[in-house]
Amino acid sequence: MEKLKTFQSQHKDRFLDELFQLLRIPSISARTEHKDDMINAATFIKDMLLSNGADRAEVMPTAGHPVVFGSKTINAQLPTILIYGHYDVQPVEPVDLWNSPPFEPVIKAGKIYARGADDNKGQLFMHLKAFESMVKTDTLPCNVKFMIEGEEEIGSVHLKSFCEQNKEMLKSDVILISDTTMLSPDIPSITVGLRGLSYLEVEVTGPNRDLHSGLYGGAVANPINVLAEMITKLKDNNSRVTIPGFYDDVIELSSSERNEMARAPFDINAYKKALDIDEVVGESGYSTIERTGIRPTLDVCGIWGGYTGEGAKTVLPSKAYAKVSMRLVPNQQSKKIDKLFEDYFVSIAPQGVKVKVTSLHGGEGYVSPTDTIAYKSASMAIELVYGKKPVPVRSGGSIPIVSDFEKVLGVKSILMGFGLDSDAIHSPNENYPLIQFERGIETIPYFYKYFTELSKK
Ligand code: BES
Ligand code: MN
Repeated sequence: MEKLKTFQSQHKDRFLDELFQLLRIPSISARTEHKDDMINAATFIKDMLLSNGADRAEVMPTAGHPVVFGSKTINAQLPTILIYGHYDVQPVEPVDLWNSPPFEPVIKAGKIYARGADDNKGQLFMHLKAFESMVKTDTLPCNVKFMIEGEEEIGSVHLKSFCEQNKEMLKSDVILISDTTMLSPDIPSITVGLRGLSYLEVEVTGPNRDLHSGLYGGAVANPINVLAEMITKLKDNNSRVTIPGFYDDVIELSSSERNEMARAPFDINAYKKALDIDEVVGESGYSTIERTGIRPTLDVCGIWGGYTGEGAKTVLPSKAYAKVSMRLVPNQQSKKIDKLFEDYFVSIAPQGVKVKVTSLHGGEGYVSPTDTIAYKSASMAIELVYGKKPVPVRSGGSIPIVSDFEKVLGVKSILMGFGLDSDAIHSPNENYPLIQFERGIETIPYFYKYFTELSKK
């Protein structure tokens, strides 16, 4: 492992240079105008895999953005680790809140600033460079495959069928993913739970055209007013979702499980301070960690309609829209929740408007077991580099494809993430500390080593 460390420190600057090239490609999966950028990002990763020692690497088409697949087999008797990551990023708006342009990466005070610096280009790059380091120092202990997709941020819409069609190619013993956070470099952690998701768009239509708000105001239902009223009906005063049946499949944790969770270090004052809020809010009877870790919720992610340009326009709009995300917990089914939402939303629509609900994407939650050799390998690898044994933590975020990996490929995933809450993923000024990037590259080969050793026993 000394050889590896030397190689990594000798090539540190080049690793960063290469990451910056990838960060400069604006691969925003949600926007059709970035279609070519998606192909460029995929091609960049494919070329890198080939030049770093993969036997095979290809940009494989899907009905949406392509998947990069790569592999290196050293011995069919040895275990195979499948690395999953995503090269697509979230949109950058509001752009004026960025201190430097989102696709012109810079380093400031020990952090890389760019869209994707953490989520997920920075984290997936650690895997590419860990792979290169192992290949070039002749220390790769097992077989490895890479599946890097371009649609994670829009719900991995085509990846499930890609997996179904390529089961044999994707055969592996474990799926290793770095697309989550750890509590802090001083309190390393491993994510053992992800939430599921139902993401919908609603459209409320009033009159058949925009109207003069003086001539018609007060006499015709205004879809924006109606939508706002309907949204407030989706949660009660205790911040519980009011959709009938919403909580039916939620598994309540036992008090001993809740006590166990409460032992994870969490500083509520630091949390409030980091967000500049004077109070946290959420479902009564649950702590903040529980509200994101083990409870489902509903949030409006966007709302629009009417006139929003400069100055005033007196208009009673014909339509109003909102995007709604419901974070789900394991055992809740996103399709079922979509239907419950639609039925309820339609039922609370007042006369004078029509309502349309469209599901955009969804996925199930995931709980990753801690009694596996994968968990043990990740735990040992992190402890070796960070000097402390990581604690298991359930995250509020989602990676919808993870539960499908288990269903389709029959393989469990281990979430060994190196992001920090302060990385501002999905926000302006997304960043990734250099130290996490470097320690990630250092930790990953230990995972390979321990996983290979423990697989033999
Ligand atoms: N990397 C995140 C998910 C994440 C971040 C999990 C931190 C745990 C800790 C991932 O890229 C993401 O943002 N996923 C989306 C999924 C959605 C678009 C289907 C999410 O959670 O909003
Ligand atoms: Mn993300």
